[in-house]
Amino acid sequence: MAQAWLDFWNGTHRIYVNDRHRRVHYDKVAADIAALVPRPDAVVVDWGCGDALAAEQVARACGELVLCDAAENTRRRVAARVGGEARIRVVSPEELARDYAGRVDLMVVNSVLQYLDEPALGALLRDAKALLRPGGRLVVADVIPPEDDLVGDVRNLLATGWRHGFVLAALGGLAAMFFSPYRKLRAEIGLARHGEAELLARLAAAGFRAERLRPNLGFDQRRMAFSATKA
Ligand SMILES: C[S@@+](CC[C@H](N)C(=O)[O-])C[C@H]1O[C@@H](n2cnc3c(N)ncnc32)[C@H](O)[C@@H]1O
Repeated sequence: MAQAWLDFWNGTHRIYVNDRHRRVHYDKVAADIAALVPRPDAVVVDWGCGDALAAEQVARACGELVLCDAAENTRRRVAARVGGEARIRVVSPEELARDYAGRVDLMVVNSVLQYLDEPALGALLRDAKALLRPGGRLVVADVIPPEDDLVGDVRNLLATGWRHGFVLAALGGLAAMFFSPYRKLRAEIGLARHGEAELLARLAAAGFRAERLRPNLGFDQRRMAFSATKA
C-alpha cells in the first residue's frame, strides 16, 4: 500500500483544483507549522513536505528547516525552488537519518499517515525517535479518523473554496476528481485511518508522551492532530 501511494505522489498528479487552492493550502499549513516552532534557533523537519510552497514562512520562524520527502521528483522540484534559501535544506529520508540524528526540535508529519501501512508507520515512529533531541516534539497531523467519508471531503473542499474565492473551480475540480487516478487508487488500496485512542496508544508504545492537539493543521477540522514528546 505505502509503495503504491508513494509511486502516485512521485508521478504527475493533480489533487488541488487550481493554483489558488494549492496556494491557500500550503500557506495555511506553513502558518500552522510556524506557530509550533519552540525557539528561533530550532531545527524543524517537515516530513512528507510535498511541494511546501510556503516553506520560506516556516524558515523565517526557525534556525533550520529541513524539508524531507520520499518522492524524488517532489524533492527535485522543491530544491529547484528553494535552492537559494540559506536556512532550508531538502533531503531524502535516508539523508535525514544520516545527518540529523538527535538534532531535531520539531518534526511535523502533516497529511501523510493515510498513505502509510503498519510497517511504514512503525518505521516512521522509530526514525522520529532517533531524530528528535530529548524533549523534542513530533506532531502528526491531518490524520483521517475511521468515520471519515467522501461526502465530508466534498463539503470541506467546497467550504474552503467558498472562503478563499475558488468555489467554482472547486465544483469543477470535484467532477475531475471523480474520474481521477487518486480516486481510483483510493478505491483500490484505500487510505489508512486511525482512531484517537489507537494512535495515542501507538505513539506511547513507540516511546512518546502523546496527546491530542487541537486544532488540526490545515483546513479540515474533521481530521486529527497529535503532539508526541520524546520522553
Ligand atoms: C498529501 S501530501 C502532504 C504534503 C504536505 N505535508 C502538506 O501538508 O500538504 C502527502 C506526501 O506524503 C508523501 N508520501 C506518500 N506516500 C508515502 C509513503 N508511503 N512514504 C513516505 N512518504 C509518502 C508524498 O510524497 C507526499 O509529498
